Amino acid sequence: MYHRYEFFFQRLPRPFVRFLRDSYLALLDLRDRVTGKAGALTPPRSLHFIGGGDFESIGEVFLGHFIKVGGLKENETVLDIGCGTGRMAIPMMKYLSDSGRYRGFDISKKAIAWCQRAIASRKPNFKFYYANIYNKEYNPRGKVSAAEYRFPCDDNSVDFAFATSVFTHMRRGEVERYLAELNRTLKPSGRAMVSFFILDEENRRLVKEGRAVYDFVHDLGDCLTVDPHTPERATAFTLDDLNAMVAKAGLKIEQPILYGSWSGRKSMLDAQDIVIVYRRS
Ligand SMILES: C[S@@+](CC[C@H](N)C(=O)[O-])C[C@H]1O[C@@H](n2cnc3c(N)ncnc32)[C@H](O)[C@@H]1O
Repeated sequence: MYHRYEFFFQRLPRPFVRFLRDSYLALLDLRDRVTGKAGALTPPRSLHFIGGGDFESIGEVFLGHFIKVGGLKENETVLDIGCGTGRMAIPMMKYLSDSGRYRGFDISKKAIAWCQRAIASRKPNFKFYYANIYNKEYNPRGKVSAAEYRFPCDDNSVDFAFATSVFTHMRRGEVERYLAELNRTLKPSGRAMVSFFILDEENRRLVKEGRAVYDFVHDLGDCLTVDPHTPERATAFTLDDLNAMVAKAGLKIEQPILYGSWSGRKSMLDAQDIVIVYRRS
């Protein structure tokens, strides 16, 4: 059932609704800055597109995973694929030493501009790059295909890479390219932690029983999605397809896969399924 105000807003032109929304959010941001609730490293509300939960505490929790599970060291070179508004970069500002390096890229121009202003201006060893890549959910006017994108890093230069809640918004050809780029840019000793929605036998069963957060009922051939009109809202891959993509890229998966709670399974680390990959040779 629609509330009367929803009906009212639906009849207004989209740009006007966006203007009203952004103005309202800007006022709330201003209030938070004045009352000290938001600091210089709090992204504006209009950039809150990264999912639920507490921005700061999730960043801290993931840094812990990167250190304990991914073996991240203070002096390493890190690549954050789809860095958004720096949820992972901000806790790393304290962790990485001056000889450590952070590189992040994203397809949201506003998010990258904010990261450059708020983070890179305070930390010369942190760099952010904007990629004008098409994604129906996050950058519908993008001009470049992720399936052709080259990461902003030299060959064999990255110790530790990660993509949190990014490959879960990408289609197969795009994920294949990003895995191949990981193989190109990781050092021989490098490793990457990447989150996926994986449909193995157990997750398929839980989805069928209605215990999962997402149903992934639409099989598009190259991926499964919850929304055939905007598949990038959430994409999943079968375990066989994931294994095939990883092998094709010249990578291997460290076992066990750390399955998440999205499917109704007991979480081994996060809500999404986390895969650690290495170069095969
Ligand atoms: C749910 S947000 C997660 C952001 C960040 N990784 C985090 O955990 O806070 C998904 C992010 O992926 C980015 N994204 C989507 N497709 C991408 C692509 N092909 N390459 C890089 N980033 C992408 C979006 O712009 C968005 O910032």
